[in-house]
Formats: sequence, structure tokens, C-alpha cells
Amino acid sequence: MLGETDKPKLLVVDDDTAALESLLQIFEIEGFEVTGVSDGTAALEALRADEYGVVLSDLRMPGMDGMDLLKTIKTLKPDTEVVIMTAFGTIEKAVEAMREGAYDFVTKPLKRPLVVRSVRRAQEKASLRAENLALRAQLEAVASERNLIGTSAAMRRVLDVISQVAPASTTILIQGESGTGKELVARSIHRQSNRSQGPFVAINCAAIPATLIESELFGHERGAFTGAFSRREGRFKLADGGTLFLDEIADLDPFMQAKLLRVLQEGEYQRLGGSQTLKVDVRVLASTNKPLLEQVKAGAFREDLFYRLNVIAIQMPPLRERMEDVALLAQHFLAKFADKNRKDIRTISRDAMELLMMHDWPGNVRELENTLEHAVVLSRGDTIRAEDLPDLVASDTTAKQYMTIQLGTPLEDIEQQVIQQTLRFTKGNKRLAAQLLGIATRTVYRKVES
Ligand SMILES: Nc1ncnc2c1ncn2[C@@H]1O[C@H](COP(=O)(O)OP(=O)(O)OP(=O)(O)O)[C@@H](O)[C@H]1O
Ligand SMILES: [Mg+2]
Repeated sequence: MLGETDKPKLLVVDDDTAALESLLQIFEIEGFEVTGVSDGTAALEALRADEYGVVLSDLRMPGMDGMDLLKTIKTLKPDTEVVIMTAFGTIEKAVEAMREGAYDFVTKPLKRPLVVRSVRRAQEKASLRAENLALRAQLEAVASERNLIGTSAAMRRVLDVISQVAPASTTILIQGESGTGKELVARSIHRQSNRSQGPFVAINCAAIPATLIESELFGHERGAFTGAFSRREGRFKLADGGTLFLDEIADLDPFMQAKLLRVLQEGEYQRLGGSQTLKVDVRVLASTNKPLLEQVKAGAFREDLFYRLNVIAIQMPPLRERMEDVALLAQHFLAKFADKNRKDIRTISRDAMELLMMHDWPGNVRELENTLEHAVVLSRGDTIRAEDLPDLVASDTTAKQYMTIQLGTPLEDIEQQVIQQTLRFTKGNKRLAAQLLGIATRTVYRKVES
């Protein structure tokens, strides 16, 4: 889970009992759940029994030494970070340890602030990776059953409607802002229908000139117009036995609206320039990002056609109203573009994620998708950082909220204020607030109740 605040687990390995004792004490005070062992073999046993974010290990030990332990950990538990303690003057060993994948090394005699800082940083790296791993696991579970990512209540409602209405042959009108996933929904309906073996044919009504759309939809006879050298079938025929997706339906001109109404009502049409009446078995899905009912009221769209199409309506929620889905979608697109660009990027830093959470996404999921593509292409390390995000997202101060705190305010009050302010920003969404604050959701619940 994101924002989990359970004590991080640290394993300390040192054959010097006194040193071990004092390290255990130090890290206990630092808020770790610590376990101490005195050699490599015992360390491996501990690692088999439990998950540790970080192992702090001495280098020179009898039996299995720190270097062998490091190598074994990196093979068995590559996500566990190792900090090595080396005696002063054995720098080559430290370099070798780094090459073998140690997170850091500290030299003995230990300086408390240095070893604490090093272990803390290793812990941060381990927990960030664990969070991203958890997201990826959740994503895999979701993506294996469908292509529409999202676990928010709004998205679940959409998914429910889809699975309810997909089997029938009813016409469906899918409405929503640009980039909210209308076409993806249409494809998903087709896939879950009993027409899934048939074709899925899409046509963008806004992209085709009015003079061509009739022949595109219904086909034409030879000689129907200048240049029509042979008979051609339209999209309705191509979609026979399957699904026809009429994208941007609001842009269909009145003449075509009448023709479409007829084929929806009777399942019959004629080719352009033809007189033969043809029959098709097509399920029509339509979409628009303009409020169609308003078009009807304005007289720009036929009322009877509207009701024909609108038998079932699916309203796609804008991304800003389901910000809980941002992290999962971001991870989904990260995987997609890392793969496409052959880059081994698997994590999104906290700063970057925070910016993604602050943005209000006027371009919806498509904008988020483009943002991740941009970031993957620019990123040089194994993590997406705030600097990798496009300026538009990164400089998004409009959505950012600031608060002023009077000097001398008790810490406890400040904490309450920050939590309340964050909750206002997330419109009461505790899970999202917890993600932004980097604490567990249950902590948010506890703090607002007390
Ligand atoms: N829930 C989702 N899960 C995964 N990908 C999504 C989701 N929603 C949208 N996308 C992706 O975002 C992009 C835009 O989606 P889509 O083309 O379906 O939007 P649209 O509503 O049809 O937009 P427009 O109105 O601009 O045509 C696509 O690449 C799509 O795969
Ligand atoms: Mg579309």
C-alpha cells in the first residue's frame, strides 16, 4: 500500500557483539524494527523468514563474510538494499561492494549521523520500490481481465454498466470529455458481447467531409458520383455481424441523421446511387464529447435519433473526478512506454507522483498517457523524477494549495491543519489524501476522528 507507516524492518549483521548492541539501540530509537544477527548464515535465515527493506552488514566476519552475504542477497532478494560497514582503510573492498550492488558503505569507526543517514536513504529507496511494486501487482491483476484501468468508484460504476449492457444488442451512447476513454469503452463493450467474434468497425463522423460520409457509411453503386468506378460497400456492411462505432456523432449533418435513423429503426439501407434495399445486423455504439441533449434543444441534432441512440447512456467521468486512478494509470503507461522505448524504468518518484496528483488533467487520460510518454523518453535513470515531467504538469501551481502557519503553532495543530487542508483539496477522499501526505489511509481516519 502507498503511504504505509508501519515501522521499517532493518537487519543488522555484525560479529562484534558490542557494536551490534549499540547499532540495534540506535536504530530502535530511529524508529526501525530491528533484528540483529552475528554472521552471514544467520542473516540469510532471518531473510528467509521475514521481509527486510535494508540490511546493514559488517564486511569482515567469520564464516560467510559480508561480501558473500551481499551477493546472495542480491540474487535472492534483489529488492533488499544493503549497506556495508567496512574498516577504515579498506576502500577497495567498499568499491567492490558497490559494484556488487550495495546501496552504500560506511567506514568504521562508525559516525552515528552518517550511518543513520545512509540506512534511512536505503530504506526510502526500498519502500518506494515496494510501493511501486504493489501498484504494479495491482495493475497486473486489473489489466489481465480488462483493458480499462481504474479502481475508483466512478470507474467501477462504468465497468458494471458495461458488463450489464454488453451482451444485449442495444444501441449505446457514450458521452464524456475528450480523452476520457470513450473509444476504449466501445471496444470493451464489443469484446464482452456475443458479437465479439464479429468485426469492430469505427468511423469518425467529424473527420469525414459531409459529401463522403454517406458513401463511407452505406457504400455506393458504380457511377453513383464522378469517380465511383465500381461498387463499394460501406462501413455498415463491413460491420455486419459485429459492432459499428460512430465516433463524434454530434457532427453528423441532418441529412445523414435521417438516414442513420432509418437503419437503426429498420436495419435497412441503400447504397448511394442504388435502389436495392439491403439488410444488416449491426450493433451501433455512438460517442460524443459535446453534450448531445443541448444540441437537440438547439435544433442541431434530431430528437428522435437522440432517443434511438440514447437507449443506454454511459457517461465517462473526467479524470479530475477520479484522481484515485491516477497512480494506477501512471504505472500502466509507465510500463507501456518503458517497454516501447526499451528502457528499464520501473518507478515513479514521490515528487513526480505528487505533481501528477496535483494536476487537474483537462485532457484526461490521454493527457496523462502523453505525460508518461514524455517522461519515459526524457528520463535517464531507472526512476521518473519531477524534472522528467512536461512543464505544463510540473509548473501546475493553479491546483497547488498553500497554507500559512503562525509561528509558535503547536505541532499537533499544524498536523491537523495539514490533514484537513489536504482533505479539502481531495474533496474528502481519505485514500488520496493519505497518498499525498505519505501516510497510511488508516492514519488519516484516526487523525480526523480524534
Ligand atoms: N481507463 C483507461 N485505462 C487505460 N487506458 C485508457 C483509459 N482511458 C483512456 N485510456 C487511453 O487514453 C487514450 C484516450 O482514450 P480514448 O481514445 O478512448 O478517449 P476518447 O474519450 O475517445 O477521446 P476523444 O473524445 O478525444 O476521442 C487512449 O490511448 C486510451 O487507450
Ligand atoms: Mg475518441
